[in-house]
Amino acid sequence: MNLASEFGDEKFRETISNMLNQNRRMQTSAPEVCITRGSQMALFLTAHSLLEKGDIVLVENPGYSPAWRTFQHAGATLVPVDVDEEGINVDRIEAYLKTNAVKAVYLTPHHQYPTTVTLSLARRLQLIGLSNQYGFTIIEDDYDNEFHFDQRPVMPLSAFEGIRHYVYIGTLSKLIAPAIRIGYIVSTPDFIVRIGKLRKIVDLQGDAIMEQSILDLMLSGEIRRHQKRMHSHYLAKRDFFSSLLENYLKGKVTYKKPDGGLAFWLKPVRDINFFRIKEKVNTELVSFYTPDRFSYDQSVQGLRIGYASLSEANLEKGIRILGKYL
Ligand SMILES: Cc1ncc(COP(=O)(O)O)c(C=O)c1O
Repeated sequence: MNLASEFGDEKFRETISNMLNQNRRMQTSAPEVCITRGSQMALFLTAHSLLEKGDIVLVENPGYSPAWRTFQHAGATLVPVDVDEEGINVDRIEAYLKTNAVKAVYLTPHHQYPTTVTLSLARRLQLIGLSNQYGFTIIEDDYDNEFHFDQRPVMPLSAFEGIRHYVYIGTLSKLIAPAIRIGYIVSTPDFIVRIGKLRKIVDLQGDAIMEQSILDLMLSGEIRRHQKRMHSHYLAKRDFFSSLLENYLKGKVTYKKPDGGLAFWLKPVRDINFFRIKEKVNTELVSFYTPDRFSYDQSVQGLRIGYASLSEANLEKGIRILGKYL
């Protein structure tokens, strides 16, 4: 057995670091990586190692509420920032910074959750510039990096050479399965030591057996082959899903075929009471998340529908029934 620690299996950390350097143009080394049980634990450890009571954290609205709850649990005050077709509104962040001390900005820039939008290059550069100027930490949640279908890959914010204050969070949830609780945090070696100290209080070491099993699959090339297969599988499924929307929801919703990720963001053309529609589709054994799940205060008008786990037949049934009631 390799040497396990609160940071995870040594060889596994090194292999994750190499993967990030090769596939995502990052410049990491093993001491900058801590393996966690999924990105949710990574968010928790980050929140409690970085934040103090009353610290301000800016978050995307709409956004990923499990992360919001984690920051609030660590005592942070959240400030929502709107999202448009270029991602989080960085001009709004800049204006806010002029009169407020901000500790961190949490975002999902690759495929924004829930809208699927990719943060534009101009906004990436602007955000990094602001982080360097004001000293806030960019918490980058790159939860579905593996599935980007556009020809041009988009590298993480944390891969930019000039970035100084960042915590990068990744997971194997989408690539392998959500039940495989393996995620990782990348940051400076000092911050990773702080993460490790906290982790040791709740979990003496990671899941060494799972880490070594995945390490074997990575070293043998099996994960790489699986990723390639899944990439073409989901690309075809994304296009199939898009054809369902054309067939059953045309004129009822607007959407942009996402460049990546495993979900679509549908905006109804007229105001909808999603709770009522949900009740109706439930009677036909179809369900969806109502938008309050990702809205900060006022509920946004939009539906995030994942197409990865359902069969084509069930996707078709669900969209047909949704179309009937929308
Ligand atoms: C924005 C976001 N972050 C993280 C995760 C994954 O969390 P975990 O790695 O804990 O399964 C998800 C899963 O859907 C997500 O949507």
